[in-house]
Amino acid sequence: MSEAEPKLAGKVALVTGAASGIGEASARKLSANGAALVLSDINESGAAALASELVATGGKAIAIRHDVTQPDDWERIIALTVENFGGLDILVNNAGIPGDNTGLMDLDLSKWHSVLSVNLDGVFLGLRYAGPALEKRGGGSVINVSSILGKVGLPGAAAYCASKGGVSLLSKSAALEWAPLKIRVNSVHPGFVETPLVDQALQNHEDAAGMRELLVAAHPLGRLGQAEEIANAVAFLASDEASFMTGSEMVIDGGYTAQ
Ligand SMILES: NC(=O)c1ccc[n+]([C@@H]2O[C@H](COP(=O)([O-])OP(=O)(O)OC[C@H]3O[C@@H](n4cnc5c(N)ncnc54)[C@H](O)[C@@H]3O)[C@@H](O)[C@H]2O)c1
Repeated sequence: MSEAEPKLAGKVALVTGAASGIGEASARKLSANGAALVLSDINESGAAALASELVATGGKAIAIRHDVTQPDDWERIIALTVENFGGLDILVNNAGIPGDNTGLMDLDLSKWHSVLSVNLDGVFLGLRYAGPALEKRGGGSVINVSSILGKVGLPGAAAYCASKGGVSLLSKSAALEWAPLKIRVNSVHPGFVETPLVDQALQNHEDAAGMRELLVAAHPLGRLGQAEEIANAVAFLASDEASFMTGSEMVIDGGYTAQ
């Protein structure tokens, strides 16, 4: 590869939850690095707007309405990926939802299921349905977006923490199972990042401004993260620069879990 050639030229990447926040930033970064992008989201117009923008700036991208909790949607998006771009090399299982700051003694089973369904079932289904396409290419890279809350707990976030902890070990199991297939599987663990998801979680608190200050103070670097800072890690794990990394947990948290 020449110095000037983008790192992901010729690669095809599918990013779930690509209409907003970390997914959007990751899609932009992967596209800037030369990958063709399949943008998945339940927010179809948001994903379509991003696809148009990437295409207008010389990238390759399509947007598909896709609910990560639905096996049929996964079958369809993988088929469309192969049909449009010839295969799949990179899967970013990013779509996720926050809990609603409900204590365990008041947490409904239905609420528990809704968080687990998107954040954990969605990642399982991504692996399950994208796996054969990655294998067909002779290998690839899967990046599962977990969280610092997949490593440490938080009161009022039991379902979210359980889902993200699940993503870590699901990733490691997949990494071991697929190492012989040259499919690398890693998880990323962002601290609190300025995105609509965090805004929504803060709005569920009585004192949103006070809670925000507490969150900032919990990050030794003295601020929340930016989506682009997580996207940089996603793009690195997607590339051959991370060729000896699989089953690892990449923490990007301004020092939150160092304490
Ligand atoms: N923002 C943070 O502080 C933070 C920290 C750690 C981990 N994360 C994780 O990063 C990921 C992205 O979060 P974000 O902050 O960018 O959130 P966001 O709300 O900005 O974006 C999430 C996107 O996922 C989409 N989505 C939701 N449910 C979906 C479904 N069933 N199928 C397909 N798409 C769906 C939404 O429409 C949205 O576009 C999530 O997995 C989240 O748990 C976020």
